[in-house]
Amino acid sequence: MTGKGKGTDLAMGLTAGQRRLFDRDGFLILDDFVDRAACERLRQRALELIGGFDPDSARSVFSTTRQTDTTDAYFLESGGAVRFFFEEGAFDEAGALVGDKALSINKIGHALHDRDPVFDAFSRTPDLAAVVRDLGVAAPLLIQSMYIFKQPRIGGEVSCHQDATFLYTDPLSVVGLWFALEDATRDNGCLFALPGGHRSALRQRFRRNGDGGVTMDVLNPVPWPDEGYVPLEAKAGSLVLLHGLLPHRSGPNRSAASRHAYTLHVIDATAAYPADNWLQRAGDDPPRGF
Ligand code: FE2
Repeated sequence: MTGKGKGTDLAMGLTAGQRRLFDRDGFLILDDFVDRAACERLRQRALELIGGFDPDSARSVFSTTRQTDTTDAYFLESGGAVRFFFEEGAFDEAGALVGDKALSINKIGHALHDRDPVFDAFSRTPDLAAVVRDLGVAAPLLIQSMYIFKQPRIGGEVSCHQDATFLYTDPLSVVGLWFALEDATRDNGCLFALPGGHRSALRQRFRRNGDGGVTMDVLNPVPWPDEGYVPLEAKAGSLVLLHGLLPHRSGPNRSAASRHAYTLHVIDATAAYPADNWLQRAGDDPPRGF
């Protein structure tokens, strides 16, 4: 766990040692990357956005175990929008919200960084641009952002996956930037990753199927191992860097504490972005860099 230098006007990027660790493991945790006040501002802004959301306007649930079933137009059109997805446990059998709206949302996505000024400012900093540069992304495009709540008691699990499954480019280029806005622990559903697993090939590809739905192409049917994962516990303010091929997952949150996180995904504009990727932006609204 390597800290990042602060107190300078120069964007720091990564040291050679940090880069070596990322290349070895496929992930790297940068402690104290953003200050607590910035985390709190983002948390407050997310709650404000939920305050303005009418839960009767959309009942879209996010599930990684039933992904192709729960994907609907509301999800497919969210690539350039700010949309709200519920936890699977948020509704009772009659379809009514069981708890408070603010404690029922699984995530907000997928263009917070382009549609909301607070998220835009958090996402486009010289420090972040320097880190992405040092990961070798030549022409970065901020393609996706998500605010993930991992709500107390009902926070859903995220099954093991590689981010390139969802953000495919040719050649592969996606990098995940995962900000802990609250302490992420084994109790409240922190990430787990397979160290070195980024050196294996892409196993699945999630794409539009041309019929208005989505398909998961299985490129390699070998299931992910049950063991060997390490917990990526992270204090609030930490940034976790994730290689696009790194297998990672997180468990459900049965604790009383939430585990808010913000994730940003960056691709390289020099790579081809397929027209059947699930996330599409309108022609007059292309993704932008830092
Ligand atoms: Fe992921």
